[in-house]
Amino acid sequence: MKVNLKIGDLKPKLPIIQGGMGVGVSLSSLASSVANCGGIGIISGAQIGFREEDFAKNPLEANKRALAKEIRKAKELAPNGIIGLNLMVAMQNYDEFVKVAVKEKIDLIISGAGLPMDLPELVKGSSVKIVPIVSSLRAAKLIMRRWMKKSLRLPDAIVVEGPLAGGHLGFLKEDLVDDTSQSLTEIVSEVVDHLKKEKLDIPVIGAGGIHSVSDIKEVIEAGASGVQIATRFVATHECDASDEFKQAYLNSRKEDIKIMMSPVGLPGRAIENEFLKKVEMGNKVKIDKCYKCIRKCNPAETPFCITKALVDSVEGRTEDGLVFVGAKAYMLDRMVSVKELMKELEQAFV
Ligand SMILES: Cc1cc2nc3c(=O)[nH]c(=O)nc-3n(C[C@H](O)[C@H](O)[C@H](O)COP(=O)(O)O)c2cc1C
Repeated sequence: MKVNLKIGDLKPKLPIIQGGMGVGVSLSSLASSVANCGGIGIISGAQIGFREEDFAKNPLEANKRALAKEIRKAKELAPNGIIGLNLMVAMQNYDEFVKVAVKEKIDLIISGAGLPMDLPELVKGSSVKIVPIVSSLRAAKLIMRRWMKKSLRLPDAIVVEGPLAGGHLGFLKEDLVDDTSQSLTEIVSEVVDHLKKEKLDIPVIGAGGIHSVSDIKEVIEAGASGVQIATRFVATHECDASDEFKQAYLNSRKEDIKIMMSPVGLPGRAIENEFLKKVEMGNKVKIDKCYKCIRKCNPAETPFCITKALVDSVEGRTEDGLVFVGAKAYMLDRMVSVKELMKELEQAFV
């Protein structure tokens, strides 16, 4: 299956984007490895400064510094590759992180967990490509209308994220639990048809639950020009998470993967563990410190601190933290190198 993904003037050898994974799961190691194999590597900007000494005291400065460092490192490791940044709209100081990324000459910014309405203005005057993540045609239309009206700009590509993705999800919790959400291929077809009708040449990238070569083919047949894959990249040596985090993926069974409500106000998919059981039973997890991550969070009311929960898991305290996963994580059974994984996935395009 021949597909040529073009995001503005960015032309990856393979139409595979490694999805951004926060906190600290996709940083410069994973992103540069994917970029060196011809895909697009994405650094997650979510609380990226968690390893900086002053993170607890001054999260904003720590995050900005770490973001610049990780972008530089990824570009050094993959000088000819394409490196992007994932930024969640729900994050505090979103604008400041975009500015750091633009200054560091990131190739593209992929942005979801909310509608990135102001992104065109924030990257104005730079060559940074901007790519919203949507989970419905409606959201895609809203973004395009607003971007055109305010900035005369359209997305350079659109990521359509379906209900089987990992992390935060743009669907109703009940629909995810009951499996009644629109499927990825349905949403991809709708968005592609709409763009064709409007004569808009914007590539659509499918994401969520893409595990095998045949999954990729299905999404491409629905009209996508590329895929965004995250969960599979966790079981690689180059993934930036701890070995314990990766092991939790390898050990997971289908029945361990659950839908939960995140303090971000969106449902999320995670591995059921001691932490999740406690939260789901309505037990509040004590909050000692606010890291000022999400705009809408009130530390007095939130059931747990999402920054702490994600940092705990990525650092290896996987029973005490939140382990986000895609729906097909249980299918993973061994660690591989990014090169091996890309070689396997590449078979979809020969
Ligand atoms: C551990 C983990 C963390 C994630 N963090 C983010 C994030 O910070 N921002 C975001 O937009 N998407 C995030 N995602 C979603 C991925 O970027 C990706 O779109 C999605 O997981 C694709 O589905 P797959 O994991 O089944 O391949 C995360 C996914 C996982 C598994």
